[in-house]
Amino acid sequence: MEDTIVSKTLLSAIFGAAFAALALTPAAFAGDQTLAEFHVENGGCDSCHKDESPSADGAYEFEQCQSCHGTLAEMDDVHKPHDGNLVCADCHAPHDNNVGQKPTCESCHDDGRTADSVLKK
Ligand code: HEC
Ligand code: HEC
Ligand code: HEC
Ligand code: HEC
Repeated sequence: MEDTIVSKTLLSAIFGAAFAALALTPAAFAGDQTLAEFHVENGGCDSCHKDESPSADGAYEFEQCQSCHGTLAEMDDVHKPHDGNLVCADCHAPHDNNVGQKPTCESCHDDGRTADSVLKK
């Protein structure tokens, strides 16, 4: 799986081999865990929050996402057009979305677009 290779590179860079081994087990990607729970296993609540409390405007959390994953501008054609318009959590709500869950588009775009239709262009 290509996804797994990308993940492994990032994982190793950030958390080292121990976390890579843990996170790449199929159970961790089975989708029965929220994104927040998944991240908490490695860095606790403060991998995203300051002092375990959400910020009022989400800016602090957005900074944390980007410090590990890169900025929207640096990502693929699904992400790039939202640079300056959205924060990660608008699509990947950490406490609501599960690991492996692909965000959809129709809550904001009504022309039937999908991640795949944009990536194939
Ligand atoms: C992957 C990053 C991430 C992790 C880890 C995380 N949160 Fe959050 N949390 C967010 C973001 C982003 C929001 C605001 C958007 C939202 O509501 O989903 C949020 C919202 C909240 C809120 C506001 C209520 C709500 O659910 O919207 C509380 C309270 C909260 N987090 C507590 C915690 C606690 C306690 C932990 C550790 C057990 C934790 N969070 C771990 C990113 C994270
Ligand atoms: C407009 C909604 C949207 C926003 C905003 C967004 N994403 Fe995504 N993200 C997606 C979609 C859709 C996918 C799945 C793309 C695909 O099918 O390849 C995805 C995939 C990912 C993946 C790969 C997950 C996997 O399954 O391998 C990561 C990591 C990710 N996004 C992180 C982020 C981060 C970090 C931000 C903020 C800097 C962000 N995203 C902002 C919609 C969004
Ligand atoms: C401390 C570093 C760190 C922070 C902060 C962080 N992430 Fe991650 N995140 C990771 C690592 C490592 C992985 C596992 C490798 C991968 O799948 O990319 C991951 C995985 C993901 C995935 C893919 C999960 C899947 O479905 O396979 C998404 C989506 C994601 N993070 C979104 C976010 C969002 C949104 C935020 C901010 C609210 C955030 N991350 C904050 C390190 C981080
Ligand atoms: C939370 C709202 C939201 C979601 C969900 C969302 N977008 Fe967007 N999108 C925006 C905003 C805001 C803009 C910038 C203003 C504009 O151009 O309409 C935008 C612009 C775009 C653009 C560039 C302009 C255009 O309309 O072609 C593309 C491409 C795009 N989004 C694709 C997607 C895809 C693919 C998804 C689903 C994976 C998605 N968006 C989900 C809010 C959203």
